[in-house]
Amino acid sequence: MRTSPDDQPGPDLLAGLATTRAIRRYTARPVTDEQLATLLWAATRAPSGSNRQPFRFLVLRRGERAVEARALLGRAAHLMWERKLEADGYRTGSGSDPSSPKSRMARTMEHYTAHVAEAPVVVLGCLVRHRPADPLEGASIYPACQNLLLAARALGLGGVLTQLHTFVEDELRAVLAIPESVGIHATITLGEPAGRHGPVRRRPLGELVFEDGWGEPAPWAVDPPGTRFTQAGPPPGIAPGAPPA
Ligand SMILES: Cc1cc2nc3c(=O)[nH]c(=O)nc-3n(C[C@H](O)[C@H](O)[C@H](O)COP(=O)(O)O)c2cc1C
Repeated sequence: MRTSPDDQPGPDLLAGLATTRAIRRYTARPVTDEQLATLLWAATRAPSGSNRQPFRFLVLRRGERAVEARALLGRAAHLMWERKLEADGYRTGSGSDPSSPKSRMARTMEHYTAHVAEAPVVVLGCLVRHRPADPLEGASIYPACQNLLLAARALGLGGVLTQLHTFVEDELRAVLAIPESVGIHATITLGEPAGRHGPVRRRPLGELVFEDGWGEPAPWAVDPPGTRFTQAGPPPGIAPGAPPA
């Protein structure tokens, strides 16, 4: 691993982040202690307000309490998917066409829901509060979560950040002895991708970047050649305003 301060990562870093997609299917291969240490080291290189470093990561593998927590998260995944199925109309409209993006997303989510409790590793991204819960506090934990996912990409692993804990938070806190003064902000599943990483697709840069005023075009904000695009939100035919995947 190249970690010296004068390392110049250059274009590798850009290529890595441009291909760090949400990975929801994993092989059975375990993530090693060494890989985990690297991921968490990278995560903790993240910035935080006043450099308080309030981020904490609770790793769930095969320990007794981890297994119990994973079972809760498995239940949470079912609750979340049931809600999304209903709210996003995955079984109606283009969802009845097996080749539609909506159907493909539904299959991915069904697989994820069924197997989330068996993911090689689950990491809870937590934050130790130094003041009452605040809507902005996530700003001091989510950069670390993204660092973790980027580091996973660098090691040939993959993962996805989710909010599954929100469905079972009280039970999770009890099983894992997480104090009330600690916020749980992310449930990240990790493993070796069963499929492949690929280019991240987003809306064209020109739709996302303004200059000199809200909605004002920034003519220089042009995607590099070969960039692939996708619309915002769930696959077509899904009600606007529904929660993200
Ligand atoms: C705040 C946040 C919450 C998310 N919650 C979930 C979730 O509960 N379940 C899930 O499967 N993916 C979840 N995701 C992953 C997003 O669906 C994913 O990042 C997005 O669709 C882009 O995927 P892509 O990078 O593969 O294009 C979440 C992502 C973020 C940033």
